[in-house]
Amino acid sequence: MDQPVGKTRHGQLSLDEIAGLQPGMSEWMLALAQRMHVMYFACKAGNWDLGMYQLRGMRKIFNNAALTRPKYNAALEKFAKDHFDGLEEAMRRQSWEEFDRLIAAAVEASDRYHAEWGYGYIRYRIPSQAPGDYLLPPPAEDAR
Ligand code: HEM
Repeated sequence: MDQPVGKTRHGQLSLDEIAGLQPGMSEWMLALAQRMHVMYFACKAGNWDLGMYQLRGMRKIFNNAALTRPKYNAALEKFAKDHFDGLEEAMRRQSWEEFDRLIAAAVEASDRYHAEWGYGYIRYRIPSQAPGDYLLPPPAEDAR
């Protein structure tokens, strides 16, 4: 039987080739860092809904990363449990102080995870500038 292929106007790709094109850890991590940046400044501006939205996106990124790179599964699950759950709770309570403290702990922990997996030279930090691509404060009640 013919193997299934994906066809584009440029040619054909096998399923294995398509699977091999899925984003790797580096791409997922860049997306994660972007969401972390937006989440931080959204919460700082009191836009807890946008913060929550970013965190949901971060959880999805972790799930996808675990799917394409299963060796990281346990580490990603542990990180999510130890850090994402607390951040979510702080956002639910709208506690900036607690959120800020937990974010610092998560960033610190990411250094340890990177070192553990042989990437000690990758030390993520939240940029000092707010992201320019979102209106950060919550919309006025009547605009929701
Ligand atoms: C808030 C948490 C985290 C942030 C913000 C973060 C951020 C980053 C960033 C910015 C990179 C560099 C990507 C690039 O320049 O291409 C990276 C790489 C990486 N991170 Fe994370 N990371 C986090 C947590 C984790 C966790 C929990 C793991 C667990 C396994 C992990 C594993 C890796 C690996 C393996 C790489 C190297 C990817 C590669 O080049 O193949 N990270 N991370």
